[in-house]
Amino acid sequence: MLELKLESKAYDRRVLGPLEFRIEPGQRLALVGPSGCGKTTLLNIIAGLDSDYTGTRRVQREDLLIAYMFQEPRLLPWRTVAQNLVLAGTGEASVDAALAEVGLHDVAHLYPRQLSLGMARRVALARALAIKPDLLLLDEPLVSLDPPTAGQLRQLLKALLAERPWLSMVLVSHDPVDAQELADSWLSLEPKNERVLLPSEEKTASAG
Ligand SMILES: Nc1ncnc2c1ncn2[C@@H]1O[C@H](COP(=O)(O)OP(=O)(O)O)[C@@H](O)[C@H]1O
Ligand SMILES: [Mg+2]
Repeated sequence: MLELKLESKAYDRRVLGPLEFRIEPGQRLALVGPSGCGKTTLLNIIAGLDSDYTGTRRVQREDLLIAYMFQEPRLLPWRTVAQNLVLAGTGEASVDAALAEVGLHDVAHLYPRQLSLGMARRVALARALAIKPDLLLLDEPLVSLDPPTAGQLRQLLKALLAERPWLSMVLVSHDPVDAQELADSWLSLEPKNERVLLPSEEKTASAG
């Protein structure tokens, strides 16, 4: 579905590469590594937002739909929750259902500043799903949440993914627990010492 062969990505110094992997339909890949190792950079490259690197990125279909849930929810602050979803493609009549699907009720009329971070993440998730993506990119979806809130959101993600077996996902996390719970393959990024694990490799193999 998407194939990336990254020779090198550098800002003032090399951050990533060489590495390569493919993402297949329904595959759930976790990019794991410490802060600053290049996870967000790699997600931007996968998304097609950053083309300033050496290597190749190939998508199988031109109309491949990629939804990107950024680390910061990035909701439009001057729009209500409902308007944020409608702008992303949710039908007006479907707003409440889309919010209920991510466990939110009675928030459609609120503005983003009135939401907790956990709620804003859920709205961002509903917005990402609104385009009915083939590939969902999640950048640290659970970071900065208190443990119970993070646990609930992790369970929600698990359930939403289970309902959509065709949906591919790339999850960025510094927490191996997230990868274990949500992904079926890992790519472990170490600063200046990248280790590549192919999607076909078993979780157990890559964990060892
Ligand atoms: N726009 C940029 N310009 C220069 N350096 C950057 C830029 N974005 C990220 N970096 C650097 O690249 C490295 C990887 O960043 P990033 O991909 O954000 O890491 P992660 O998401 O794993 O925390 C870091 O050292 C960061 O400081
Ligand atoms: Mg990051």
